[in-house]
Amino acid sequence: MVRVLFVCLGNICRSPTAEGVFRHLVESEGLSEVIDVDSAGTAGYHVGQPPDGRSQDAARLRGIDLSGQRARQVKIHDFERFDYLLAMDDENFANLMAICPPNRVRRVQLFMDYAPGMTKNVPDPYYGQGNGFETVLDMIEVASKGLLADIRGKHL
Ligand code: 4NP
Repeated sequence: MVRVLFVCLGNICRSPTAEGVFRHLVESEGLSEVIDVDSAGTAGYHVGQPPDGRSQDAARLRGIDLSGQRARQVKIHDFERFDYLLAMDDENFANLMAICPPNRVRRVQLFMDYAPGMTKNVPDPYYGQGNGFETVLDMIEVASKGLLADIRGKHL
């Protein structure tokens, strides 16, 4: 089993979207039995809450259902359990590295490193206006394909 954890700040916008998009891709490729997908936030403000309604609406328009997800906070055991801990932006990355056991730092990466040529930070759409949620989905769709190619090359 290859285990992937997407990480943002609140676990109600970006990382639940990544979890939903990547799981959908994994299912469509018939790989659900070999790739496990989850998400978490570095902060605990929204623990137990479903994804932001705006994220749910934007994802639903692309055929992806986020409604069953509930926010949780990253815990130390996640660095043991997950092969990939993928931060949505530099701040999430720094917050993960600050608590990561030294022998696990190679597991922590920027998710957008799997989308060569694109911006490295998935912008936080929470306080923004306009189409921030669409931008998040566009970026996540590209990086998800790159991530799956990496997993296929290294693990499958
Ligand atoms: P996320 O967005 O990190 O993509 O889930 C945010 C959600 C909530 C907050 C910040 C970012 N907040 O400060 O409550």
